[in-house]
Amino acid sequence: MQEIKSHRERRTVEEHKDFIDFYLDQMEKTKNVPNSTYDEENMLHSVFDLFLGGSETTATTLRWALLYMVAYPDIQEKVQKELDAVLGSSHQIDYEDRKKLPYTNAVIHEIIRFSSIILITIPRQAVKDTTVLGYQVPKGTIIMANIDSTLFDPEYWETPHQFNPGHFLDKDGNFVIREAFLAFSAGHRVCLGEVMAKMELFIIFCSLLQTFKFTPPEGDKEINLSFVFGSTMKPHPYKLCAVLR
Ligand code: HEM
Repeated sequence: MQEIKSHRERRTVEEHKDFIDFYLDQMEKTKNVPNSTYDEENMLHSVFDLFLGGSETTATTLRWALLYMVAYPDIQEKVQKELDAVLGSSHQIDYEDRKKLPYTNAVIHEIIRFSSIILITIPRQAVKDTTVLGYQVPKGTIIMANIDSTLFDPEYWETPHQFNPGHFLDKDGNFVIREAFLAFSAGHRVCLGEVMAKMELFIIFCSLLQTFKFTPPEGDKEINLSFVFGSTMKPHPYKLCAVLR
């Protein structure tokens, strides 16, 4: 509420630059529209949704990313070789670079698939009677799609239960996206932050691997890849060594 208040105060003098500024504009524009949903309460919930949906998910995926790199050192090494060969060690990573880094991009997609942090989608409700693949869905039915089942479907993935970046590479080593890659769901209510998440993951993951080699702490033999059940599936707390390359 304080943030909204300070936005209100400065918006006449400063250029609009963020979500709250534009939301306030929209409230202004629709103030005489009957039943408009643009009000302060809805803005608060929307900001909350963006923080909730936008930070926990990417942070958890990054924790899985580093754990997998420790668990699969040969894959880590291959990513670093590609980064060194294509970008060198001093290049500041840009999201556009993914086009020149097919193996790294495939590894990031495999991290998202294999960690499957959101097992089922947010509950949705049918707004009218309908039929899906021959099944009748009466108006009012709550629907939660099973994302996990698509990410591990043996009909669509060669080795579903194996961490295999090859799932996202063609025979010539080019990056390919897969139809069953539905980690961000699909349709009208597809994840709003899909591009932002992919961008953040790419930039942070590449920058970290460019700078550090990740290894288990000395003496640690077993790497626990099982998840802790929750709103997102997280790895168990773990330690690793980040060694400057
Ligand atoms: C690896 C990261 C992420 C994953 C795996 C992920 C996955 C998902 C999934 C599965 C849904 C449910 C869609 C449905 O119910 O059909 C969703 C919804 C949503 N996500 Fe993400 N998400 C990620 C990152 C983000 C980020 C970075 C943001 C925001 C900046 C974000 C914002 C949202 C919002 C607002 C919704 C609700 C969309 C709606 O109801 O229309 N997510 N996400």
